[in-house]
Amino acid sequence: MSNPKKVKIGLFGFGVVGQGVWKNIAQNRNALEARLGAELAITKIVVRDSARERTVQVPNEIISTDPATILEDPSIDIVCELIGGTSQALEWTKQALKQGKIVISANKALICEHGEELFKLAQENGGHYFYEASVAGGIPIIKTLREALVANRFSLIYGILNGTSNYILTRMEREGISFEATLGDARSLGYVEADEALDLDGIDAAHKVVILAYLAHGKWVALKDILCEGIRSISSDDIKIANELGYKIKLLGIIARDFEQNSLTVRLHPAFISKRETLANVDEVYNGVSVTGDVVGTTVLIGRGAGQDATSSSVISDIADAVSILQGRTSEARFAQDNPLEDSETLELSKPEALESRYYFRFKVKDEEGVLAQISHIMAGHHISFATVKQKELPDGSALIMATTHLTKEALVYSACEAIKNEATVIEAPVYLRIFDSEAYLT
Ligand code: HSE
Repeated sequence: MSNPKKVKIGLFGFGVVGQGVWKNIAQNRNALEARLGAELAITKIVVRDSARERTVQVPNEIISTDPATILEDPSIDIVCELIGGTSQALEWTKQALKQGKIVISANKALICEHGEELFKLAQENGGHYFYEASVAGGIPIIKTLREALVANRFSLIYGILNGTSNYILTRMEREGISFEATLGDARSLGYVEADEALDLDGIDAAHKVVILAYLAHGKWVALKDILCEGIRSISSDDIKIANELGYKIKLLGIIARDFEQNSLTVRLHPAFISKRETLANVDEVYNGVSVTGDVVGTTVLIGRGAGQDATSSSVISDIADAVSILQGRTSEARFAQDNPLEDSETLELSKPEALESRYYFRFKVKDEEGVLAQISHIMAGHHISFATVKQKELPDGSALIMATTHLTKEALVYSACEAIKNEATVIEAPVYLRIFDSEAYLT
């Protein structure tokens, strides 16, 4: 289609995000259509249950449970996949791309697992696959990397990419309450995904990290090959000690590129981060991403990482790009989503155990003579040197030893923990967190 005056859009899914797209297009229709020079018409919506009550009212005749009403309608050029999941969404996305349609997705799990295949399919069939809403909700991180920062190579991208975990950590820090107590509130506010592991075990944020790593470095990294740890093991004691030492605890996605070694580190885990870092002060359900490019320096984006309006803002921005392409008003190369910013053929993914970092440890031990010396001895045997040590007596006669270390290797941390947890005086397996230092990547 060239220079269409009316662009037809089909939506798969009419839940929170789908209704947000409808509502916000309607709300800003005049301005949006004037900017795009086209009428935006959502002509079909495919849902699982057409009888379901919805806040946003749409004409009954455009709602259907039959995917063919979108997939077999050649007048629909833009398809928004907003159903989530990786089975039906994959099938319908593939069918739409095979027909050369432009598909827009907020589905980070699908892109993380099948992005390689889907981008290829888009390219082979002259379509496009857009995904601004898949990472950090309303923050325009995809377009920022691809378009605004195209002049750069990225040594470090790190960010807070899961609003639910950030909400829980913020409440724990501000109110000194436990993970479990805060989780209850997060659940009742509807923040936690139906599959809680996505939020609490870091999987949702890891999906987003994988997408950003591909975009910035051209390498599809499998989730199983990266370190992915959530926030379940963090206690209010950890947060209190972090605070005393000048840190906050945040769930961080980290993508670090060593251009000299041609290696890439991709990981997702909670970490101590200095309160001086901008991202340490991104709290509650907000997301933030810090991008360091060799030309621009460090740029930080902060905003709403989830929710109806923020996510639909990103979906609509992809619709706008799709309309531009259909109008022939922009170079397709600019939006070639299947072309990452780097060529990755020889790029090596670093193994998690190769990390060098400072660490924080929490040991729960019997409060007896010589126990601290015993732990120090094992740590020294693994060439791990303590920087700070603090002990807290517990009412049951045990004690928490909370310590930070100087720079060490993750592989040594694994073996030291193995040795320590087998000691008779040690009550629980040690908990450790990495101390993130952005400077370490920028020298
Ligand atoms: N569960 C996600 C979050 C939703 O908390 O950030 C947005 O991807």
